[in-house]
Amino acid sequence: MTTTEMRGPSVKHDIMPIAAYWDAHPLGRQYVKDQSIEPGTAAFFEHIRPWMSFYKFPWIKDRLEREAALLQGRHLLEIGCGMGFDSVEFLRRGVRVTATDLTPTAVELARKHFEVEGLEPVDVRVENVRDLSFDDATFDAVWARGVLHATGDTREALAEIRRVLKPGGRAIISHFYRRPSWMYWISLLGRENIEFREEDPPVNDFLTEREVLAMFEGFRVVETAREHYRALPVARTGLKAALYSWVFRPVYNLIPGPLARHLAYKFSVTAIKE
Ligand SMILES: C[S@@+](CC[C@H](N)C(=O)[O-])C[C@H]1O[C@@H](n2cnc3c(N)ncnc32)[C@H](O)[C@@H]1O
Repeated sequence: MTTTEMRGPSVKHDIMPIAAYWDAHPLGRQYVKDQSIEPGTAAFFEHIRPWMSFYKFPWIKDRLEREAALLQGRHLLEIGCGMGFDSVEFLRRGVRVTATDLTPTAVELARKHFEVEGLEPVDVRVENVRDLSFDDATFDAVWARGVLHATGDTREALAEIRRVLKPGGRAIISHFYRRPSWMYWISLLGRENIEFREEDPPVNDFLTEREVLAMFEGFRVVETAREHYRALPVARTGLKAALYSWVFRPVYNLIPGPLARHLAYKFSVTAIKE
């Protein structure tokens, strides 16, 4: 099956190809312009930092700062931490963090990132969100950014997140991929996501808002947001990226803001476990 054939909340995917893809393509690698910089060093993290979401998307910075203020001294689980950029920001703001990712490569890089920043997380380890090893009601909050659409079973992932949250705990889930959206239409033109130099991950689930919200069973939704409704610059090079940058982006961005919001690429939800 191709990615375009695999959409919808009821589709469940094998975890092995997903893990293999992300192990070979940890998020951030595609932004490395200077290949002489050693991965895992302070220079490496500084080199790619401007391209990471906390620095690139103002709404993520705002959300993280608001949540960190609420979670002082509390225990937050990050799902799909990649190289740990968001966990670094929570740790800097006095939140206790357990950082996890599906792949050993990401976990190793996140560990090095915390070391070079002189930060001490509670734990850093490999975890599959669809089958977490933590006890029920362990965490005050769970943060996942740009992850659940790629896990292969969003419903199962949310059920596990709910299980490990304490009653009253916060699920702060950013960047479900939205359908319909401008990126959904681009993705229909080919398997390739313009953000990636080589290939797409095996799963990129595009869901309607209704499908996403229906999966928050046992939660009280306290905030939703449509984000990334403008077509932003991408680091990618090549023909498709050139068409995106010089044709699609300037034309699409002429659409007035209120209308463009209906075509937002990303949908975020904050919900409290009941
Ligand atoms: C697009 S990257 C986002 C990384 C990070 N949140 C960031 O913003 O830098 C998606 C991440 O989700 C992780 N991931 C994919 N499926 C997962 C699963 N089932 N359980 C935990 N992590 C998963 C991948 O390994 C990858 O690091």
